[in-house]
Amino acid sequence: MNKPASFNSLAIGERVLEVPIVQGGMGVGISMGELAGAVMSCGGMGTISAADPGFNEPDYESSPLQANLRALAAEIRKARVLSCGRGLLAVNIMVACSDYDELVKTAVEAGADAVVSGAGMPLGLPGIPGTENALLAPVVSSGRAARLIIQKWERKFGRLPDFIVCEGPLAGGHLGFTREALDSGDVQSIDEIVTDVIAEVEKVAAPEEIPIVAAGGIMDRSDALRLFDLGAGAVQLGTRFIAARECDASDGFIDAVLAAEEKDILFIKSPTGLPGRAVRTPLIEEAMIHRIPPKKCLCCLKKCDPATTPYCITKALINAQRGDTENGLVFCGARAGEVNRRTSVREIFDELLEDQNSGADKNAGVRTEVKNRGADDDGE
Ligand SMILES: Cc1cc2nc3c(=O)[nH]c(=O)nc-3n(C[C@H](O)[C@H](O)[C@H](O)COP(=O)(O)O)c2cc1C
Repeated sequence: MNKPASFNSLAIGERVLEVPIVQGGMGVGISMGELAGAVMSCGGMGTISAADPGFNEPDYESSPLQANLRALAAEIRKARVLSCGRGLLAVNIMVACSDYDELVKTAVEAGADAVVSGAGMPLGLPGIPGTENALLAPVVSSGRAARLIIQKWERKFGRLPDFIVCEGPLAGGHLGFTREALDSGDVQSIDEIVTDVIAEVEKVAAPEEIPIVAAGGIMDRSDALRLFDLGAGAVQLGTRFIAARECDASDGFIDAVLAAEEKDILFIKSPTGLPGRAVRTPLIEEAMIHRIPPKKCLCCLKKCDPATTPYCITKALINAQRGDTENGLVFCGARAGEVNRRTSVREIFDELLEDQNSGADKNAGVRTEVKNRGADDDGE
């Protein structure tokens, strides 16, 4: 008998993900130990972002690498404590980061179950010492990218990805498409990407050996079930988890996402060379008109040249994380307009896992604090 695709537990390598819900990594400081730990405690995969996790450390400006490595290890420990022994823990490390190898080593030494890596092609990831016992996953936006990574990892390291995150064009943060393709709409949907990547996986392994995690624009149970039906083993959500009170961002950042409507969300130019999706803020508007030279450069991105960069992305992300959205870059997914009330990680899980009518009302007054977009926030 064919069981309809659903939220079944997922075997990934030697590990088991009890609930196939992954919280996407969100830098800088949006998904740290608190959010990841809360997701793990519900049986999902929590992800700590390794993009400048040390930004609040006292020595961040003088010794950014040490501050970042120390903070990353501390956030991993924190997530483990909060997880109550459940779930899996991933660290998201962007290929674009200058200190990529050191961040990967610290993540696995500190006990992350998985390293997830995108914003570029993580072609050398399995060669980094210490990664032998961790789950390794690239983030891809096409079957072609999946094929190149699979071939390279197999030839050079005799290893296949343990899972693959497929990120579609509705995702938040940096996007794996050209700006022209995004503007013209000539991009594959997440459904098409998942289908193509599964076809690539099937050339080298049984599909269950390399599970697919679908990401980008997944808001509710019906989105998830549709992707499970296509063969995805898990779904990854980013923007929805920003609204959780366990999110590591400040209220100012969260409110900017909750208040955003479709018209407020735009593509931005990032110093990584990739386009990104974000909420319109004064900083972004200014950067569209003229370059904002960085005051100080901490050399956080491989490709960023302080002499030509349109603005300092790390400073803009830190400002946003702290609630200074005027001078900040607030990444969000294309469907952020549908996320407009504070919630909790538990409630997001309940909504996804149960039938449509469970959700907000059940916990009214306990966890849910309905925020009517714009009603009480004049001028913000
Ligand atoms: C605020 C924000 C920051 C993000 N930062 C990163 C990041 O540092 N690295 C990364 O690989 N993906 C990043 N992403 C993408 C998410 O991990 C996730 O895949 C994506 O947001 C899923 O789409 P959704 O937001 O529509 O659910 C970010 C997304 C958001 C909204």
